[in-house]
Amino acid sequence: MRAVDLIVKKRDGVELTPDEIRFFVQGFTRGDIPDYQVAAWAMAVLLRGMTAGETHALTLALADSGERLDLTGVVPVAVDKHSTGGVGDKTTLVVEPIVAACGVPVGKMSGRGLGFSGGTLDKMEAIPGFRVDLTTQQFLAQLRTVGLVLSGQTAELAPADGKLYALRDVTGTVPSIPLIASSVMSKKIASGAQAIVLDVKVGVGAFMPTVPEASKLARRMVEIGRLAGRNVVALISDMNQPLGHAVGNALEVREALDTLAGGGPPDFREHCLHVAAHMLVLAGHAPGLRAARASAEEALDGGTAREKFRALVAAQGGDPAVIDDPSRLPKAPVIEMVRCGKGGYLAEADARLIGMTAVALGAGRARKGDPIDPSVGIVVHAKVGDRLRADAPLYTLHASDPEKLRAARQQVAPAFKLTSRAVQPLPLFYRTVR
Ligand code: URA
Repeated sequence: MRAVDLIVKKRDGVELTPDEIRFFVQGFTRGDIPDYQVAAWAMAVLLRGMTAGETHALTLALADSGERLDLTGVVPVAVDKHSTGGVGDKTTLVVEPIVAACGVPVGKMSGRGLGFSGGTLDKMEAIPGFRVDLTTQQFLAQLRTVGLVLSGQTAELAPADGKLYALRDVTGTVPSIPLIASSVMSKKIASGAQAIVLDVKVGVGAFMPTVPEASKLARRMVEIGRLAGRNVVALISDMNQPLGHAVGNALEVREALDTLAGGGPPDFREHCLHVAAHMLVLAGHAPGLRAARASAEEALDGGTAREKFRALVAAQGGDPAVIDDPSRLPKAPVIEMVRCGKGGYLAEADARLIGMTAVALGAGRARKGDPIDPSVGIVVHAKVGDRLRADAPLYTLHASDPEKLRAARQQVAPAFKLTSRAVQPLPLFYRTVR
């Protein structure tokens, strides 16, 4: 078998066999197949697509490129969540403590921000001292003792996905349904998740722009999970505007802390409770969504979720004092609030443009491995559908210097559109795929 023949086959729209896919992934993992051939193959997949059988084979090949974690005996049911990536998506920081506080242990391996979308690891590292580089042994020990872990993916887990994702990020091959589905599901399968809630984002700030495309991605992932014997539910959620208000690492941690303290933006709180309730049902903690929702609300409003988060931060070397005093989080030196300028209804708060501006401010990376500035970002004060007066605050920029602030103001201004006619608020969720 030669890599070039498999590229040509895919280019010409011919279905690859499971053996061919395994050969390709194994060759890539070992370093026998060079990046340029893998990039060409990924582009052929993006343009030609993959059958359900090919996507399943690719998922298993990626999952088997490294070790598979076995969590049986460590937790009663290994339940996990995964978001396909969004702007202002700090859901994990609230959902996982809620679920853990309900008595369902969660060990999550998260990623870093890529492109305009943020990453949980970058957000957690905004907490002074917080370490995400746990070994598998440390991960398992903390899961047993604390019941909550938020770490980076170990190098041994689905390493081929890490390499492939980095290549896709720089070759325009991220928004492909089979590539996203296999990437997400390979990590979940390798990390031992038996029950998985997928938060599939749709809209201008997501990789899937329309609900039909997001639903197709969701169905593909649910089906892969079924074939691998995992219980999967996918929630299609809105990503046309940022989730909550804050975009940027320390700003998002602060918003998550507000939410864990019983406050926070209503849309974000609602989103977290809905995802947490689905996780609790999948874990068998509650017979149905209504009971699960009641448990989740109790954990959030009764403060037990906040205490779980405190235990998590302490266990991973972070400064637990930030929980009571978020002013200890990194702060940007230059802050400017921008008002609406004219009255009306907020018709658009373009999540992609806001995410890209946050990246340009230093909250994300232009290239893998670039350093980030945890303090910078944007706080959007209004939601689509809100009626605003001319002097109402629209957004606040947090920048490292006046020059970056000026550039960000110019870049982000077109993200906001106000109209004189009433605008419907955007839904939080569109549908559920089981
Ligand atoms: N998240 C992933 O883990 N992989 C993708 O390909 C896209 C989003």
